[in-house]
Amino acid sequence: MLTDTIFNEVETPAVLLDETRLMANLRAMQGLADRHGVALRPHAKTHKSLEIGRRQAGLGASGITVATVDEALVFLRDGFKSITVARPVVSSSKWDRLLTATKDRGTELRVVADSKEGVQVAGERAAAHGQAVGMFLKVDVGLHRCGLLPGDPRIGELAGTIHDHADLDFRGILSHAGHVYAAKSRADAAAVAEDERRAMVAVRDALLADGLPVPEVSVGATPAVLATERFEGITEIRPGNYVFLDLLPVRVGVARITDVALSVLATVISRNEGYFVTDAGSKTLTSDTGVHGMTGNQGFGLAYPALGFLDSDREMIVEKVSEEHGMVGRNGFDLSIGSKIRMVPVHSCPVANLARSYVVLTSDGIESWPVDAAGGSR
Ligand SMILES: Cc1ncc(COP(=O)(O)O)c(C=O)c1O
Repeated sequence: MLTDTIFNEVETPAVLLDETRLMANLRAMQGLADRHGVALRPHAKTHKSLEIGRRQAGLGASGITVATVDEALVFLRDGFKSITVARPVVSSSKWDRLLTATKDRGTELRVVADSKEGVQVAGERAAAHGQAVGMFLKVDVGLHRCGLLPGDPRIGELAGTIHDHADLDFRGILSHAGHVYAAKSRADAAAVAEDERRAMVAVRDALLADGLPVPEVSVGATPAVLATERFEGITEIRPGNYVFLDLLPVRVGVARITDVALSVLATVISRNEGYFVTDAGSKTLTSDTGVHGMTGNQGFGLAYPALGFLDSDREMIVEKVSEEHGMVGRNGFDLSIGSKIRMVPVHSCPVANLARSYVVLTSDGIESWPVDAAGGSR
């Protein structure tokens, strides 16, 4: 499909999206959710794109998940009707921005909390704006980032406070097993997912035994949902990375490199004995070598001559990055100045965040899609 001509048209560095692979990934995840009878609420922090969000909705997603208020605003202003902000919002000004934007739109707003301060500020702002907010209690199932550990007595107390608050609607419990990215195999990832499921069902049952209704049990991390077959007790999944994939789920064994939809196109701008020096450095490819502080990948991505993409006999490694230069180990190959190199990043989500647009490779040629919610973490 990809001809020399198309590559020559594209100025580099460019973030490429293979539309066929993207759509296959979207369909596969919706199919998985439908097969297991769970709602799919994709995490849009990966793509930050209205076009991709609309396609997910068109395939049957129940709503969208975001990490930041800025992302929420982009999607709600586009008319997305149900949005979960899956990172605690504890500042009044952010609440005011969110609630002002949802007013009169009828957007269903859902958020997470894991502290009494978080519940309090949400409750106050919701009351001040006269708008009800759906709230999940975040459970820490092993990443040890946000959330309360299963068995922590504050789970029952906070859930009760949310449930009893006139302006908060207790939606249930929510977790993210991000530590699954340390799994060394599909079986390891399935074990992490099953531990998460059991922990969440136990938390749900304890709340039910206390007389609190728990309408939803929401989980979601791409390697975990792709590895497991067991979803009993789960009502919703929130994977994000699955749309593009990258070397991380490939290393875990839950995806093939040929499933990865996002790549970076670069040009060889110089060369020396050891390296092809390209124009894709850390400001395009990022300097991520893992997620959540977990490393384990060699270099910053795999690299191939553009017209030998994914040919394992022509594989090279992006060994070093400075801001605007990426150093690809020559590995005995010869590429001339001006040649195009196509890279599979270690972690596609921050690559998308740094881009302003995607160069989308379609069956008819190329299109440009904006990264609507790129940049910023507020
Ligand atoms: C709270 C939460 N839910 C869901 C996800 C989606 O995870 P992944 O991108 O691994 O699918 C993330 C990712 O960081 C997250 O933080």
